[in-house]
Amino acid sequence: MASTAQPAAHESGYFTEENSADVVIARMAGAKDPRFVALMSSLIRHLHAVVKEIEPTQAEWMAAIDFLTRTGQICSDWRQEFILLSDVLGISMLVDAVNNRKPSGATETTVLGPFHVSDAPRRPHGFDICLDGKGEPLLVSGRVTDTEGRPVAGALLDVWQTNDEGFYDVQQKGIQPDMNLRGIFATDADGRYWFRSSKPRHYPIPDDGPVGQLLAAMGRHPYRPAHIHFIVAAQGYAPITTHIFTPDCPYLHSDAVFGVKASLIGDFRRVEAPPALTAGQPGRQPEWEVVTDFVLSRA
Ligand code: BEZ
Ligand code: FE
Repeated sequence: MASTAQPAAHESGYFTEENSADVVIARMAGAKDPRFVALMSSLIRHLHAVVKEIEPTQAEWMAAIDFLTRTGQICSDWRQEFILLSDVLGISMLVDAVNNRKPSGATETTVLGPFHVSDAPRRPHGFDICLDGKGEPLLVSGRVTDTEGRPVAGALLDVWQTNDEGFYDVQQKGIQPDMNLRGIFATDADGRYWFRSSKPRHYPIPDDGPVGQLLAAMGRHPYRPAHIHFIVAAQGYAPITTHIFTPDCPYLHSDAVFGVKASLIGDFRRVEAPPALTAGQPGRQPEWEVVTDFVLSRA
């Protein structure tokens, strides 16, 4: 007579359509990390619910597997298609939102994106970060303060943006100068910063891979509205990753990665008279200016 092994409690009960998520989740009884178990349980429940709601055919499920396979295969040191996928599905902005519920008054945050570099050069006040002099000259200035309005001296602003054709320097090696439209600026004793640049332009996120195909299938365009990126950091304060958007961009209301917030739309103005801030500095006279203050909350 064949002996039947007795299953452990978490291994009892065969998989059925009705109990599918419960059976899979019960198998994690040996897992050590409760946060991981909570995450996997939620993921399994939601994925099983999707299958029950959509009832995909085998061919449809294989198409989904193929999409994820191609998403992984196109990744490299400089191309991160999974982050792009998270961005276009609004997941990156949601993770940012749940992690940045700041006290009121602190500057709002938005996506980092893939074009930040960690070794941008330190630049003096007023420096023109547009190294090839192309585009419409812009003066960017403002103050960094705490939530009580006190200046934060010595705060570092790490800045990067596209050129007037919508490309970052790292996308046009050999065409744009290295470190074009990037720089790190420190605030003065009054928390002030100022630098010169060129007015940024809207651009498509990398859309020649699976995420681009997904956007097309969803009937969506791949464009981000024109913006300047900032990471603002100071000792004792929570750093913020944010943007200033231009108000006149046609894609302001349909950002491919959902990064726009009303408070981040800058007041870009045409310069009437040459601003005093650039007196004595070589280089281009600004035709545009935008004044943007950043508010940091205590770490
Ligand atoms: C960016 O703003 O640089 C960016 C953000 C998300 C995806 C692609 C680009
Ligand atoms: Fe960007």
